[in-house]
Amino acid sequence: MTTTATGGRAAIAARTLRTDRWWFPPAIQAAGLTAWVAYATFRVFQQSDYFVDKYNYLTPFYSPCVSTKCVDEASHFGEFLPYESLGFVAHLIPFAAVSLPFLLLFRLTCYYYRKAYYRAFWLSPPACAVAEPHAKYSGETRFPLIVQNLHRYFFYAAILISLINTYDAINAHRLGGVDGAGGGFGLGLGNIILWINVILLWAYTASCHSCRSIIGGKLNHFSKHPVRYSLWQRVSFLNGHHMLLAWITLGTLALTDFYIMGLAAGWYSDLRFIG
Ligand code: FES
Repeated sequence: MTTTATGGRAAIAARTLRTDRWWFPPAIQAAGLTAWVAYATFRVFQQSDYFVDKYNYLTPFYSPCVSTKCVDEASHFGEFLPYESLGFVAHLIPFAAVSLPFLLLFRLTCYYYRKAYYRAFWLSPPACAVAEPHAKYSGETRFPLIVQNLHRYFFYAAILISLINTYDAINAHRLGGVDGAGGGFGLGLGNIILWINVILLWAYTASCHSCRSIIGGKLNHFSKHPVRYSLWQRVSFLNGHHMLLAWITLGTLALTDFYIMGLAAGWYSDLRFIG
């Protein structure tokens, strides 16, 4: 109704003929993404309250902790990012500087998030059948948006980081202590929160459109590749819930970080079941 046969917009004065609350989803998305980015930015640069040595809980925002300022017990992959020698600049470099840029780019180039922030922040367009304020549109065929096509490579990085997060969740069952005391198996509410977060991160990563393409793409006959077909079916199921997983994992990441921050800051104690 609002476009001509040649693809141009019909000559109507109104910005849209829609009468529903089309502005509501982009408004909610803008608010949610802004709040999450503000919280994550604060936490990443806070550089404290990221590790509970008694239970080996490490927040995903600081994993892997590779700064020379990291608590030794939290650094299982080495401390090679100089801190002391960098002066004030060190405060601007996250302790997990080797993983966070890739995670950010993985989410930033995600097909779903692209749709969300194109609509919420660039209003390009703000909703279906609502005119956008921009005069020109070159899509993702030119710089800088052509970089979005690198998503597949950030997916590979996300797999590696998910493996590290899984290692952290396993390691958090080892009772700790800065002096090396402790040992043995532990289980507390923090472990459950860490595992829920990791499992959902895997679900989000596996539901990626690139993952689905990598597993099931370029096949002429599924019947000749039963294993890939079976995996593709499972990944396709998750892919159908990709938007939901994108939002849920933002929530679980923030919740996991907040819980560990509260424990590390001494605001409350961990609910313990074993150890
Ligand atoms: Fe969303 Fe790949 S499409 S993570």
